[in-house]
Amino acid sequence: MTYEEARAKMSAIGQEHVFKYYDELSDTQKAALIHQVEETDFAVLSRIGSGASDNRGVFSPLAAMQRSEIEAREQELHDAGVKAIKEGKTAALLLAGGMGTRLGSDNPKGMFDIGLTKPVYIFERIISNLLDVVKETDTWIRLFIMTSEKNHDATVKFLKEKNFFGYKEDRIVFFKQDMAPACDYSGKLYMESKDRISTSPNGNAGWYSSMCRAGLDKILTNEGIEWIDIFAVDNVLQRICDPCFVGATILADVSVGAKVVRKAAPDEKVGVMCLEDGRPSIVEYYELSEEMMNAKDANGDPAYNYGVILNYLFRVRELSAVADDKMPLHVVKKKIPYIDENGALVKPTEPNGYKFEQLVLDMIHQLSTCLPYEVVREKEFAPIKNPTGIDSVESARELLKKNGVEL
Ligand code: UTP
Repeated sequence: MTYEEARAKMSAIGQEHVFKYYDELSDTQKAALIHQVEETDFAVLSRIGSGASDNRGVFSPLAAMQRSEIEAREQELHDAGVKAIKEGKTAALLLAGGMGTRLGSDNPKGMFDIGLTKPVYIFERIISNLLDVVKETDTWIRLFIMTSEKNHDATVKFLKEKNFFGYKEDRIVFFKQDMAPACDYSGKLYMESKDRISTSPNGNAGWYSSMCRAGLDKILTNEGIEWIDIFAVDNVLQRICDPCFVGATILADVSVGAKVVRKAAPDEKVGVMCLEDGRPSIVEYYELSEEMMNAKDANGDPAYNYGVILNYLFRVRELSAVADDKMPLHVVKKKIPYIDENGALVKPTEPNGYKFEQLVLDMIHQLSTCLPYEVVREKEFAPIKNPTGIDSVESARELLKKNGVEL
């Protein structure tokens, strides 16, 4: 693309200001900006104002496998899971492409130290949880780590320095997810430097398409991986590829297993597993009608009672049918660093604009069947989103201590 073509592309969508500093740039910087204009999909900007949850279908309850059943069938589920893991049919995929803006650290979230008397990094906790299964099954589970161009180098460098916290290096594969542009509330693109439009990772649903673009689906095929456990970087208590969950999902013969926790209260602010037009889906807390909140299942328990924790076991062979363009785009208010009128970098402390994301939970709705699998909240759900308060470093520390983890 030439400069004239790039200018025309941006002026057609009212975003010519991205060339404000063009004349000051070196030839390399000019080329980089033109290249970014050429490769970026700006169509997302037209989605501002159209909520992702528009046009929802008809919701109905989806029963979860509850603790009572899991405990009664523990040996059977465990054995099926161990068998699949030992046969190399199960991989893990860490979603670490997010910016963790609420936590407010400049480093990748996994590098955050939650220790009190010694360093305890988020990555360390996650890898230690996976290592429990490696040891139990005597199998080095393939571990994929998704980063973004914003945090890739720092993530890889840190994990190398820490010797991958004891994980076998040749069983880990990194890949970067794709990026989307970011703008202010009026839809005007932010610039993160004079030669670069602000971008942010395009949401955690980008994992499968980004993985395929990196050619890593070949690893899945070559190694005969049939199931892949996708999990968030910030839940320091979650079990990953744990045999009972793997076994339950395989024996249920579903497209995806989803770890869920029982809601603490009917109006708790979590997304809840359900069916939407007969397909598995997640209804957000603000979409739950009074009637749905009070609905009861055959046992008299609340019918919409299980919140998702972003830990899913996908059946690999069904992923190729999941299409990015069928997934809603979520327009999310976030803190976006930008350069001001004078070209100085500003790091906002409050959300100042929109990012565009596709979310894993929308992948679930494209699959035909799902097993919600109940885990005990106090044992498996300690997400770190904020420095203090709800879902924070403080609350996660308390839960870790209760589970006997030394900090
Ligand atoms: P969050 O929804 O908490 O987003 O991500 P975030 O960007 O990390 O944090 P905030 O909202 O800016 O504070 C949930 C999980 O999805 C991953 C995150 O790394 C985390 O594991 N994620 C999120 C990605 O991998 N890519 C993305 O584009 C977004």
